[in-house]
Amino acid sequence: MEKQRTTALPSTEELARQMTYIQKIRQENDKYLAETGHKKKFYSLAMGCQMNAHDSEKLEGMLDEMGYEATTEETEADFIIYNTCCVRENAELKVYGKLGWLKHYKETENPNAMIALCGCMMQQDVVQQTIMKKYRHVDLVFGTFNLYKLPELMCMRMDSDGPVFDIWQEYQEVVEDLPSIRHFSYKASVNIMFGCNNFCSYCIVPYVRGRERSREPEDILQEIRKLVADGVKEIMLLGQNVNSYGKTLEHPISFAELLRKVNEIEGLERIRFMTSHPKDMSDELILAMKACDKVCKYLHLPFQSGSTKILKKMNRHYTKEGYLELVRKVKEAMPDVTLSTDIIVGFPGETEEDFQETLDVIREVKYCTAFTFIYSKRTGTPAAVMEDQVPEEVVKDRFQRMLDVLNPLVHEVTQTQVGKVLPVLVEEVSKNDAGILTGRTEQNTLVHFTGTKDLIGQIIPVKITENKTFYVIGERM
Ligand code: 5AD
Ligand code: SF4
Repeated sequence: MEKQRTTALPSTEELARQMTYIQKIRQENDKYLAETGHKKKFYSLAMGCQMNAHDSEKLEGMLDEMGYEATTEETEADFIIYNTCCVRENAELKVYGKLGWLKHYKETENPNAMIALCGCMMQQDVVQQTIMKKYRHVDLVFGTFNLYKLPELMCMRMDSDGPVFDIWQEYQEVVEDLPSIRHFSYKASVNIMFGCNNFCSYCIVPYVRGRERSREPEDILQEIRKLVADGVKEIMLLGQNVNSYGKTLEHPISFAELLRKVNEIEGLERIRFMTSHPKDMSDELILAMKACDKVCKYLHLPFQSGSTKILKKMNRHYTKEGYLELVRKVKEAMPDVTLSTDIIVGFPGETEEDFQETLDVIREVKYCTAFTFIYSKRTGTPAAVMEDQVPEEVVKDRFQRMLDVLNPLVHEVTQTQVGKVLPVLVEEVSKNDAGILTGRTEQNTLVHFTGTKDLIGQIIPVKITENKTFYVIGERM
């Protein structure tokens, strides 16, 4: 089985080329619709972070243009695509588990189903080899840099006897204006940059998403203006390290300057962004956050570990004291700000004393949410070959002790909202109760309250009445 290698043309030409492949598949699918009375269906699964979720919206947009219809039932799909993650080992194990199931599905229920894998996990050689050898029922494999080639690769697969593998090692073009299916009508994510240059020693992202590349501010602003014209009220600006946005553009611009420009877009109501790296969080950005009325006073600021010794081994470029000073500045500038974070427990060499320093930071900052992870060894990263890997029982014990400290503090932070009337962007009907709506405050607190679905997409005042730690109950005013 040969690995294929397609190449890229400049952005607009490339988009036009892909549109011709879309049309080709569309003709086939329209014929199928005329013959059977129903459309072919696709099942799309995005694993991992918001970047992947956003990429999948583009994949789904292209599939929609090809005349496929989305289904949430994998067992009735003609085209199945997993946009994979490899940040931690369990994400990869999940993919292999699902591939086992798909083999059976293809053999017994739908031999014509096409199975595609893309995203971060596929960028790794060892994964490509494993799929070639052991998962021969997979039809199409591509990576993070050539997602826009989906239509062309599908045509290649349809015209060939065997699977198509097309994995690039870097970006050639950022193709703008791909069709996209947005998961929500009132909020949307917008990529402002791709890749990461930080090489935190535990992290595989820089190896699978390549070097940092910022989009031109005008392209970003134009995309947001279009979304707002379409009814979008809240924008999430996405990047692995948004604080270093714009530094390498031909006409450099800071993230703070970009925020101010986005803030001026008429009709837009809320701006969020993630992820901020503490080492690049400038005073200029804090000032811009404070000054821009549409920017939510909510900051995701991963600290990973409270021990300066471990932070150094992680290649994070800040100290415990530096991080705490930064938080102090942020809170001083915006007293009502809420903070969330990412924490890793069990990094190689982490002692009980180091772990206690992580607990110190949790106690001092008081987060509204924390994404907590057990360190996962990623082959190819510097941390994977460090000595003193921490035994599993020790890590599990620390992880539990961390949650015991964290959760009561999350409850305390949530409590500060009780009794207040807050603007809530109504998001959806609760999955468990059709009479209950869910929404989010500016501080990102999830609110449940009684209401009807015509309110979805509106920002309305809700009185917060009860604290459930990870969400609150409210009453519509
Ligand atoms: N093990 C555990 N957690 C990790 N993260 C990244 N790499 C690893 C790893 N090897 C976490 C970090 C990062 C978040 C997105 O995932 O906390 O901020
Ligand atoms: Fe990974 Fe660090 Fe880059 Fe975040 S900043 S994606 S943790 S290397």
